[in-house]
Amino acid sequence: MPEGIKSNKFQFPEGFLWGSATAAYQIEGSPLADGAGPSIWQKFSHTPGLMLNGDTGDVATDHYNRWESDVELMASLGMKAYRFSTSWSRILPEGRGRINQKGIDFYSRLVDKLLEKDIEPLLTLYHWDLPEALDNIGGWLNRDIADYFAEYASVMYKNLDGRVKKWVTLNEPWVVTDGGYLFGALAPGHKNRAECPLASHNLMRAHGAAVKAYREIGKHEIGLVVNIEPKYPSTDSPEDIAATKRADAYMNRQYLDVAFKGKYPEEMAEIFEDAWLPEQPAEDYELIKQKLDFVGINYYTRSVTAYEPNNWHLKAKGVRVPHKTYTETGWEVFEQGLYDTLKWFKELYGDTPLYITENGSAFFDPPKAIRGKVHDPLRVDYMQRHLQAIHNAISDGVDIRGYMCWSLLDNLEWSLGYSKRFGIIHVDYETLERTPKNSAKYYSEIIATNGAILSEDPFEVLKKY
Ligand code: BGC
Repeated sequence: MPEGIKSNKFQFPEGFLWGSATAAYQIEGSPLADGAGPSIWQKFSHTPGLMLNGDTGDVATDHYNRWESDVELMASLGMKAYRFSTSWSRILPEGRGRINQKGIDFYSRLVDKLLEKDIEPLLTLYHWDLPEALDNIGGWLNRDIADYFAEYASVMYKNLDGRVKKWVTLNEPWVVTDGGYLFGALAPGHKNRAECPLASHNLMRAHGAAVKAYREIGKHEIGLVVNIEPKYPSTDSPEDIAATKRADAYMNRQYLDVAFKGKYPEEMAEIFEDAWLPEQPAEDYELIKQKLDFVGINYYTRSVTAYEPNNWHLKAKGVRVPHKTYTETGWEVFEQGLYDTLKWFKELYGDTPLYITENGSAFFDPPKAIRGKVHDPLRVDYMQRHLQAIHNAISDGVDIRGYMCWSLLDNLEWSLGYSKRFGIIHVDYETLERTPKNSAKYYSEIIATNGAILSEDPFEVLKKY
C-alpha cells in the first residue's frame, strides 16, 4: 500500500477497470472530414434555435485532430480503459452500403494508440449520431434499421475485433427515444407520442441484431448500456407509489425487461394508452433477448417522485429535495442511489457482470484555468462518494468490473452546448488547451491505489498538487 494510506477498506478487486468515457459527436469535431456523411446531430445542431447559444459539434474539443495527445493524457493519469463511441456516418456515409475506409482508419489508429499505452478500449457503436441518410428513410421508426445497424456493427467487428475486446451496442436507448422522439430536445427532434414506443422497439431489435451478428464474427464480449435513475416515492400514499412504479417502468425497466425477459413492463400500456405498441411479431422478442456478456450502467442521480395527474404520460413529477447539493444540470447528488441501483439490477436481472459506463457531474468551472489549475471540489466530492458506494455494492455481492467516469474532457452537452462542464480535464474552448482538473488528479490517485485512497480526505490527498 502506498505510503500514507491508513486503511485499505476501499481496495477494489484486482484487475478492476478504471477509465473514462466520451462520445463521438461530443468531442471529435470535424464531423464531415475525410468523407464522413452527415449525422442527425449535424443537422440538428445546424438548425437555428435548437442548440443553446447556437453551439455545434463542428469543432467540439477537436479530438479528431488531437486524439494522440488525448490518449497520452489518459496514460499520464494512469487510466486503464477508455470508453468511446464510433460515428456510424464516418464508417458508412449513407448509413449502409458504401464503406468509407478513412473513417475506419481513424478509429483503427486510435485503438492502436490506446493499446500501445495499455489502455483497454470499450467501443460503443451507437451514441446517438444516426446517419442523416437513414433518418431520411424513417430512422428508428423504420423496421429495416435493425439490419442496417447489424451491417454497420459487422463492419466494425471485422475491422477491430482483433483489438477491441469490449463492445457496446447502444448507449441509453431511453434517452434516444424520450429526447429524440417524444419531447424533441435531442436529435432528430420529434415530438410525437405515437413514435416513441416504436422507436424503442426498433432500437432494441437493432441491439439484438447486432449482438446476434457479433456471435458469428466476434470473439470477445458485447453488452448494452442503459441509464438508470432510481425512483423513490415522495410519500407513502398509494398515488405516489403508483406514480413511482410508472416512472421506474418507463425509464429503468423498459429496456432491461425486454432484453432479459423478452417482454415490456406491464405498466407501459397504461403509460402510453392508445399510443402503446400494437402486437409485435414473436420473433422480435426472440431477437431482442440475446445473451449479454455484460451490462453498462450510467448513473447520475435519483428522482423523488410524486403523483401529478396533469403530466401526460406518466402522471408523475420529480420533487426537489431541500438542502441537498444539486449539480449544474439540476441533478441531486445522491450516491446511495447508485448503491441501490446496483443491488436492484442483481435482484431483477441476475448476475450479469456490470460496468459503470458513465458517472459524473457538471459543476461550474471557469472558462479558463486559473494559474494553470482548475479546483473542482464538488466534483471531487461527487467522485469519492460514488466510488465508495460502488465499493459497498461490490462488498455486498454485486459483480462490478469497472468504472468509466463521465467525462474525460469537458465537451458538447448535446442541445445544452458547451454550457455544462462534465470533464475531469478542463477544455478552454478558445484555445482548446487541456488542463487536468483536481478531480483528474484525485482520480489518478484512486487508480494508482486501486481505490484504497478513497478512505482518505480527498483534500488532504490533493494538497501536494
Ligand atoms: C449521455 C452523455 C451525456 C451525459 C450527461 C448521458 O445521458 O450518455 O452523452 O453527456 O449523460 O448528460
